Amino acid sequence: MVFDRVVTGGSVVTPGGIQKVDIGITDGKIAAIGTDLVSPGETTETTDASGHIVIPGVLDVHVHLALPFCGTVSSDDYYSGTRAAARGGVTTLIDFAIPFAGDSLSDAADNWMEKAEGKSLIDYTFHICITRWDDHKDQIAGMIDRGFSTFKEFMIYESEGWQSDDRAMFSTLEIMKEHGTMLLVHAESARVLDELIERHHTPELMAEYGARLHPMSRPNFIEAEAIQRAVKWCEITGGQLYIVHMSTAEGADIVRDAQLRGIPVLAETCAQYLVLDDSVFDQGDGHLFACCPQVKKQADIHRLWKGMRSGEVSVVSTDTCTFTREQKAMWEGDFTKIPMGLPGLETLLPIVYTHGVRFGRISIEEMCRKLSTNPAQIMGLYPQKGAIQVGADADLAIIHPTLEITVDPGTMETNADWSPYDGWSLAGFSRTTLSRGEVIVDDYKVIGEAGRGRWLPRKKAGLYNAEP
Ligand code: URP
Ligand code: ZN
Ligand code: ZN
Repeated sequence: MVFDRVVTGGSVVTPGGIQKVDIGITDGKIAAIGTDLVSPGETTETTDASGHIVIPGVLDVHVHLALPFCGTVSSDDYYSGTRAAARGGVTTLIDFAIPFAGDSLSDAADNWMEKAEGKSLIDYTFHICITRWDDHKDQIAGMIDRGFSTFKEFMIYESEGWQSDDRAMFSTLEIMKEHGTMLLVHAESARVLDELIERHHTPELMAEYGARLHPMSRPNFIEAEAIQRAVKWCEITGGQLYIVHMSTAEGADIVRDAQLRGIPVLAETCAQYLVLDDSVFDQGDGHLFACCPQVKKQADIHRLWKGMRSGEVSVVSTDTCTFTREQKAMWEGDFTKIPMGLPGLETLLPIVYTHGVRFGRISIEEMCRKLSTNPAQIMGLYPQKGAIQVGADADLAIIHPTLEITVDPGTMETNADWSPYDGWSLAGFSRTTLSRGEVIVDDYKVIGEAGRGRWLPRKKAGLYNAEP
């Protein structure tokens, strides 16, 4: 058999375990996995992966590119953001289409399609955000017909016009149950959070504590209470729920307990919650690290890694929402005005590989499940994406097992002039990234063309609906 390209000699992480095999690629799909796939005398293109690990391309299912937020627009758009993604071995991303004032759900999807078209280097789709229940409720079925199977509600962000209440969550979950689709929720308890922010928002406290007031006004119970409530609506309605960016030990306990009781709730965490704690706020530029929810304590980090092993943490994503130093400086000493969010697409795989696999916390197979297979299955993209198997898109990342690269914002693709991981030594950057069989990163350099990425339609979502 002759292939368009064969990836040779690597240690390949397949659903059946790690194998020393070649991968034959035809028409952008994996056509064969086996030994000696390059026939003598054939002119097949080859990619030498010897001495390297070949993993399925990573899916980052929580990304915000060019998002108007906190009085500015997040600085990674579909050009810089997807170049950063590719360099980090990410071959699929899911962003959030958020309706602006007066917009329908369909307007929001159109708007995000326009952001991606002509710019995206990798494949993409969107979660559709429901922000005005009365206007949006009758539009959900139409969006499912259009190929969107995941919806999102924010329990906070009233000032952005995005906040949903319990009525919206409860009723959306009923609709998710009916259609086999899934609701994603940003779980923080809005009213108590407002009260705590107000209590900390005084000139005296701001002078004394600066940006440290951000984590101080968001104790763990803010997330835990909101997760508990969302899980209750999930239990009653039976609609599939997915908790985004879970950051607390308490949250992980609640999700585990619910899963053991058969409630259809799943949870993701993000790379930052696995490696950063709130001591970052003690640095002079601590305000740069402000995001929602905030990074927590060592005990939470420990619990989230445990959840990765025992299963209540199904996915690791990034919640990429990049702001430059200049944008972050808009806070001018007022912690309520910091543009909230962190860059992350470029460092997701290196962080999880280095701090998970290399530090002995998870196996490489487990890492691939959290970064590729689970997100693909849960978000309705499996088996097209998420695993190295015949018939799947040939989305691959080829990483060196030990070679470390020092994180230097000056050499990164992301449009940020700082990094939460500045100076960290990380292995796991992608030497070669393939998207649908095409080499888009070669020798750690992005070579793919902007605009080659495709929108991915979906029908279903949620593990309880995943196709076998
Ligand atoms: O700080 C964050 N996370 N910014 C993005 C918006 C969100 O809540 O996901
Ligand atoms: Zn959020
Ligand atoms: Zn987010």
